[in-house]
Amino acid sequence: MKLVFLGPPGAGKGTISRMVSERLGIPQISTGDIFRTAVKEKTELGLKVQAILAAGGLVPDELTIAIVKDRLSWPDAQRSYILDGFPRTIAQAEALAGFSSLDAAVDFEVKDELILFRLTGRRVCKVCGAIYHVVTKPPKVEGMCDLCGGELYIRNDDKEETVKARLNAYHEETEPLIGWYGNRSLLLTIDGSPDAETVYNAFISEIGRFLRK
Ligand code: AP5
Ligand code: MG
Ligand code: ZN
Repeated sequence: MKLVFLGPPGAGKGTISRMVSERLGIPQISTGDIFRTAVKEKTELGLKVQAILAAGGLVPDELTIAIVKDRLSWPDAQRSYILDGFPRTIAQAEALAGFSSLDAAVDFEVKDELILFRLTGRRVCKVCGAIYHVVTKPPKVEGMCDLCGGELYIRNDDKEETVKARLNAYHEETEPLIGWYGNRSLLLTIDGSPDAETVYNAFISEIGRFLRK
């Protein structure tokens, strides 16, 4: 099962792909996580992308495509993967089609109004990357990861002004991919607005039906 997860910032791409990864053992590959780790570790890549992430813009296609192409050549990604947050431009989608064959692109639909609530309440584990929300998924102990005890932090692009820039980038660059994958009969649309368990269950039943078609 080779899948792409589409959807605006805060749609739940990370939340649902991590649930799928934990429960079904499919590797979750998040370009956002790769860039944030590089920034944290101050690698050459991190220094290149730091300002772009902080401003809510998109990392250049060439750089992003090279990273994903390399990651998909690893042994664990030969049979199944979920790409969380890639592709984000038509050029990225075209490049991906040239080096891997997808089974579906899953678009998680969430209205802009919900996004600000989700992102301003998000907390992420510094150690394992687990995703929480102060209202919809609070950790058992405030500020501490249920899974590994790591410290929770607020992503520095979850500030209201940066969220707006990310939403603009989404509407301009990424939303056209819905039509692009639709034209290739690869698009599956899931309502991303209910609670995460409901979205997960809808995804599992719909993807099964979609792949049997
Ligand atoms: P990235 O990390 O991919 O950010 P994003 O697309 O903005 O998406 P988010 O991670 O914000 O949202 P999500 O859909 O994963 O939601 P989550 O599950 O966390 O990218 C970051 C940056 O990297 C970009 O801005 C760009 O600069 C760069 N980049 C990355 N990929 C790139 C590419 N391909 N090309 C160029 N640049 C790239 O959920 C959000 C919150 O809501 C959480 O608190 C969660 O607990 C809660 N929540 C989730 N689902 C539900 C639910 N169903 N019910 C209630 N609460 C929920
Ligand atoms: Mg994410
Ligand atoms: Zn953790």
